[in-house]
Amino acid sequence: MRLSSAIILSSCLASTGWCWEHASGDALSEIIEKNELAESCETLESEWSIAAESASIPLLSIDCNSEPKFCSEHDVALFPAIRLYHDVGQVTRYRGERTASSISAFVQRSSRPVISVVDVNNLTEFQSIDTVVFILVIPNPDHEVKATFTRVATQYHSSFSFGVRVGPPNYKAHVLCYKSHEDELEVFTGPLNPTAIEGFVKEASLPLVGQLTRRNEMKYLKSGKSLVYIFANTDASISTFKTEFTPLAKKFKEYLSFVTIDAREYGHMLETLGLQKGKLPAAAVYNPSFGQMFPFDQEIEVEPKVIDAFVIDIVQGIIKPWGSSEEKEDSGQQVAVEERQEDGEDAIGEGHVGVDHSEL
Ligand SMILES: *[C@@H]1O[C@H](CO)[C@@H](O)[C@H](O)[C@H]1NC(C)=O
Repeated sequence: MRLSSAIILSSCLASTGWCWEHASGDALSEIIEKNELAESCETLESEWSIAAESASIPLLSIDCNSEPKFCSEHDVALFPAIRLYHDVGQVTRYRGERTASSISAFVQRSSRPVISVVDVNNLTEFQSIDTVVFILVIPNPDHEVKATFTRVATQYHSSFSFGVRVGPPNYKAHVLCYKSHEDELEVFTGPLNPTAIEGFVKEASLPLVGQLTRRNEMKYLKSGKSLVYIFANTDASISTFKTEFTPLAKKFKEYLSFVTIDAREYGHMLETLGLQKGKLPAAAVYNPSFGQMFPFDQEIEVEPKVIDAFVIDIVQGIIKPWGSSEEKEDSGQQVAVEERQEDGEDAIGEGHVGVDHSEL
């Protein structure tokens, strides 16, 4: 199977005089009321062209505004959408971050086999070939776990890279997860059944500092951990926060999930968390089990050291939840990334939050 091209199906405004070449949208302002979308298109265009420069396959863009028939035939209801078309007619939907590096990684990953065979000579290189790499180590090439691992790998092939390595004959089969940029290695020894392997893939692949979107929100809310939200409104600051907060996220990883949030897209969440709009970067801690919000003082600079102290104060009960804590506990109010209902591609199911942990 070969890849033919990655296509972006979009509907972006040309009003800035800077946007997509294809865009001609005058009727479009009715559809897109929010400037935010035009902005996100602009950002995506530059990311898309960076990715296109280095891609091994053509990266095309299609304006759904002038090609409505094509877009509806391809089942596109929400723009911009990114799809990868394989030459056998198979289509992979892209759900990752809308950055050049993430799009490029997706294209490269998709051009590799579902499972790469690695040996002692190229193991080190393969470990860092992608943000998240899983390697199954088996004592012999025909080990029964290989088929199970392959099924899971097929399902997650567009998100992570998978390899298999035949180790010494007396080895017990196990799965390794490498996250080279976080300097993390996780080992999973079993049980090596489909559900457990998939569970490991989902859990181990979460970055220490992730980025919250409507597409992964439920995964975080259902994890049973409290969330530390870090809001920022530039790609550069989001990326800096991810790096700076990784050690702190590692320290608290049993109890807390650290996530950055793009305030350009999810700015409406600020007020739900007791934060003021427009004062960025900003941070808050959210405990989904009790619906408690802990907004971080927006006059103080968001830094790992002060957030560390802030979290400890919350744990020790020194900082009380925002608003009347009794009322909030009863209402079980939920903070949602998404206010609107999305189409099938991005829709997230109704979730219920974990209840079995105390303060944090
Ligand atoms: C690693 O090297 C072996 C040969 O030693 C080769 O068969 C295999 O395809 C290589 N794997 C990767 C991912 O390059």
